[in-house]
Amino acid sequence: MVLVPGSGHVINRDNIIKFEHAPLATPNGDVLIKDLTFEVRSGTNVLVCGPNGCGKSSLFRVLGELWPLFGGSLTKPDRGKLFYVPQRPYMTLGSLRDQVIYPDTHEQQQRKGISDQVLKEYLDNVQLGHILEREATWDSVQDWMDVLSGGEKQRMAMARLFYHKPQFAILDECTSAFYLHMDGRGNYEFKPITEETGVLPALAADDGNRDDDADEQQDEEDGGRDDAHRVHWKTKTNKDTN
Ligand SMILES: Nc1ncnc2c1ncn2[C@@H]1O[C@H](COP(=O)(O)OP(=O)(O)O)[C@@H](O)[C@H]1O
Ligand SMILES: [Mg+2]
Repeated sequence: MVLVPGSGHVINRDNIIKFEHAPLATPNGDVLIKDLTFEVRSGTNVLVCGPNGCGKSSLFRVLGELWPLFGGSLTKPDRGKLFYVPQRPYMTLGSLRDQVIYPDTHEQQQRKGISDQVLKEYLDNVQLGHILEREATWDSVQDWMDVLSGGEKQRMAMARLFYHKPQFAILDECTSAFYLHMDGRGNYEFKPITEETGVLPALAADDGNRDDDADEQQDEEDGGRDDAHRVHWKTKTNKDTN
């Protein structure tokens, strides 16, 4: 098989992510998945599982148009309608407010008509309301990369989802520090997001390397984790999570 970068077709369409016979390959042409076909529609959550290095983040790089498509086709919303939450989210220089609205500016927030009170709701959604109480003001400037713990940074990045309301949220291994806190039963629930936005589906990656109690419970609920060296897909509709 000869792989030509950029030879795949990227089609922009709202509320769907669909790979059709697309190889997943690194920019230097190493093939991670020969032939990928799957579809995710709005309102559906997908958990992408597989061992380290199998290509979960690579899939998201292709979705984010950071990497070329080497063949087949990819139907997805315009890049601006996807929001990527990395494992180690970036905190920007500036105020507490700037962390929630990133990459927007305060002026953009005002133009969108989103008040600071609404931002407080978003912080509360991810159980970060105490940060505002601690700082006393949205204008508090700190070295947020340093001040916030790893889990708090991930939750801050989740708060950004409520603010930006993307069509798809792509959560790359940010489940361990966040979701298990959201749901004491160890489920990968996206409920807080879907309730807020109505339509927001999510893709999440999980390399199965965590070993806390909640994780074991998750394994039991899953009927044990499949350790096959390939990406496997689990779909879960919002209905299932209720
Ligand atoms: N920029 C890059 N160029 C070439 N290969 C890469 C690049 N980034 C990652 N890879 C390789 O692609 C493979 C899949 O990586 P990745 O998608 O990050 O795995 P994971 O499933 O753990 O998220 C790995 O072998 C990794 O070394
Ligand atoms: Mg990864």
